Formats: sequence, structure tokens, C-alpha cells
Amino acid sequence: MVFDYIDGAADDEVTLARNVSRFRDIELVWDALVDVDKIDTSTTIMGAASASPFFISPTATSRLFHPRAGELAVARAAHAAGVPYACSTLASTSVEDIATVNPGTKWFQVYVWRNRALVKDMLERAKAAGFGAILLTVDVPVAGNRERDGANDFSIPPKVTWRTATQALAAPGYLWDLVTTPEIRPANFAHIKIDGGLIGFINAQFDQTVTWDDARWMRENWDGKLAIKGIATPADAQRCVAIGADAVWVSNHGGRQLDTAPASIDTLPGIAEAVGGAAEIILDGGVRRGSDIVKALALGANAVALGRSYLYGLAAGGEAGVRRALEIMDSELRRTMALCGRTKLSGLTRDLIFQRTLA
Ligand code: GLV
Repeated sequence: MVFDYIDGAADDEVTLARNVSRFRDIELVWDALVDVDKIDTSTTIMGAASASPFFISPTATSRLFHPRAGELAVARAAHAAGVPYACSTLASTSVEDIATVNPGTKWFQVYVWRNRALVKDMLERAKAAGFGAILLTVDVPVAGNRERDGANDFSIPPKVTWRTATQALAAPGYLWDLVTTPEIRPANFAHIKIDGGLIGFINAQFDQTVTWDDARWMRENWDGKLAIKGIATPADAQRCVAIGADAVWVSNHGGRQLDTAPASIDTLPGIAEAVGGAAEIILDGGVRRGSDIVKALALGANAVALGRSYLYGLAAGGEAGVRRALEIMDSELRRTMALCGRTKLSGLTRDLIFQRTLA
């Protein structure tokens, strides 16, 4: 059930599959006989130095995937790799605890909750804990329909039913970690009473009346960097720029919200053109290989965010698993750049994408 929660998406998972397959459809060409002895993957993302053009995307409740390691392991691995770590509002570890293990670049993902005072309080806490940017998610007016979770009786925190109990008994190591560590709950809201676990919290706090006025309110109440996450059209990208966002984040939530949404990589070129350099562009959705990163940068992204790519590592091996996942991405990116004959990220340009002339 935990694997399905990471691996699954909304409805028929068409967008999930397309996010990945459309990267595969894009063909790369290369410059031959270039000195590629030194590959430089360093960059800045929203003003923060990063060793690579990828970073940790916010994903809810990391302790679910590894009850003992959780967010702390991911934050440590991100710091070791020299890339930004983004914490979900629905994290199972508090921003203060995360800050103790990661003195590097940290960002905080937010929604506009019904209770604006709670949002303001959270922004202040994130700032005090050294989180330099907020990432406003705008593609969750309602929760997506994750059918694998329904079939597994899966919820956060897991509730005991015949289906969940038989699955938990089949994974004794996981069960042991689950029952010998603190209860998995939204740790940033430990001070407020939450009925019905995470879903109860979401139902109580998700405000379905949120509009661009609220995004503007968020901009006015935060003096750090702001990215708007979950943009699929050039018109919305221009709205992000108009309200003063520092980054437009092209995303369909990993196919977990609106199914049959186009692949992120397909919406990127039009958005990049509409933004025209007025804000940075971040992309997530389907990035599983270093070559995917090269393609995203060649088509206009400044950086990509990794979600499932590190969560599989976290679930399989805790902190070591996340480190390994990030190392694999880094080595694949470097190898692809060398094979393409480009040594710097600024050299990852549109001419690397093969233009098919034959059907
Ligand atoms: C949370 O944002 C999720 O996609 O499960």
C-alpha cells in the first residue's frame, strides 16, 4: 500500500505514464569531438547555489515511506549532495527539526489554508528555521482520485482494516518501525488538534475558494523567494510573473491530480516562451534519468524537481537510498552532458533536440 501510494497517480494514470514516455520520445543529438574532460553541473536555483540543476521536490509525509528515516534522512542526503531540500506542508517532521540536520538551502511548500493566521504563523516559523523560499502549490483545489489507495484501504496515518493489516503483517520490518517510532502525523501542526489524521486536516483546511488574489496575498506576506507550483498553461505562467513570482513551476503533480493532463515536458516550451526570462522555470513530472534533465533544460527549464526518483530510494534504503538515488541522477546527468558534447548547463540548448522531418 505504501509502494502504491508512491508509485500510483490519479484515475487511469495516463498522465503519470505520459510524463515519463514523452521524455523517451524526445531524441538528443550531440556535438562530436568536444573536450568534455571537465563537466560543470553547478548552478543557482532561485538565488541559491546548487551543485546540480535538480533538487528534492516536496512530498507529503516522508516517514510513511521509511518511518525511522523520514524527512531527516532526505534533508541530510540533499545537503550532502549540495542541492536544495524542499519540505512539504504535510511533512511528518517539523521545519525546526529538519533545520537541525540541514544547514543548507531549504524551501517550504505551502497551500493557502482556510485559516490564514495558521498560514502566516507557518511562514514565520519557516523563515525563522532558515527556509529561504516558499513553493505555493496551486493544482490541488480538491484531492485527485488515487484509485490504488482506495483499493488498498490506504490512508495517512494508516488505519487498521483487514486489507491494511494483512499487508502490514507481510512487511514485518516496516511494521516494527511503524509501531516503535512516533505516530505519523502532520508534524508542523502538532500544536493544533487534528481530527481524522492527515485527510481530516486537509478536509478541514483546504480552501476551495482560493484564487490569484490569494496567491498575491501570499506574495505580500513573504519577503523571500516564491515559486508557484502546478502551472500547465502560458496564460497562468504570465499570471505568476504578474504577481511577482520568482519561479514558475511547471507540474501536473506527478499525474496525481488531473488525469489526462499533458506531460509536463510537453507544456514546458510554450510556458518558457511566455515567461521569456521574466522568472525562472522549474519542471517536475517524469524525470527518471539524467538525460531527462538535459532535455528539460534544453527546452527552457532552469532546474528540475525530483519526487518519486528519490522516494523509491528512501523507501528501499533510508538515507543511503536517497543518497544513492541522487548520485545516480548526478552521474547520469554528467554522462549525458559528455555524450552530448556540452560541458556546462548553459550549453544545454534547443539545438540538442533532434527535429524530426520524416514521419
Ligand atoms: C500529495 O501532495 C500527494 O500527491 O500525495
